[in-house]
Amino acid sequence: MAAIDNIDACVFDAYGTLFDVAAAASHCQEELGDKWGPLAQTWRDKQLQYTWLRSLMHEYVPFWQITQDSLDYALAMYGVDDASLRKKLLDIYFELDAYPEVPAVLATLKAGGKKVATLSNGSPDMLNAAVNNAKLDLDAAISVDRVGIYKPDPRIYQLACDDLDVPTSRICFMSSNAWDAWAAANFGFQVVWVNRFGQPPERLPGEIREMISDLNGLPPLLGL
Ligand code: LAC
Repeated sequence: MAAIDNIDACVFDAYGTLFDVAAAASHCQEELGDKWGPLAQTWRDKQLQYTWLRSLMHEYVPFWQITQDSLDYALAMYGVDDASLRKKLLDIYFELDAYPEVPAVLATLKAGGKKVATLSNGSPDMLNAAVNNAKLDLDAAISVDRVGIYKPDPRIYQLACDDLDVPTSRICFMSSNAWDAWAAANFGFQVVWVNRFGQPPERLPGEIREMISDLNGLPPLLGL
């Protein structure tokens, strides 16, 4: 028997879960030297903070704008003032690399009869560019943009039920962003936390079903 059964759809967070958020800075190691790792971390931390802060402030702008604002913060923090490097980082981020196991795992899920989708903060332009770049075959690439607020607002998780026409409890949701995993579990999804970064569990409402270290662990949990 599968550890998680009665699942009709597998829904994935995008950035950090399907797509490698450190890839842009990693591709610019020659220009950034030792700063690339800390800069990538600050860029990501600030990007997420801005989604939460702007949601609380009722000052939504698309994630692509937030991605640029948070990069500018990180570049200022590390004293990098280089317009062509900024453009290179953003160009790479726009169609970010997928983690290596992603295409094969998604293909296995589809072959097993599951709907497969992403549910992301990403604005539709950047999300579609990354999905196309990685040649992912998805039933839907759902963006928060049409609601105008970011995760973890419950209205965002509801979009997956509505767009895929699948009841909450029959959706298996995957995120490497622990806060997103906990919030999705609290909403009612069956959640598999993809703990790529070896983080401790969150102290937030919500009960995740399983933890894996990368997406290769997912098909067996679903009996595939
Ligand atoms: C996303 C962010 C959380 O893709 O990474 O929604």
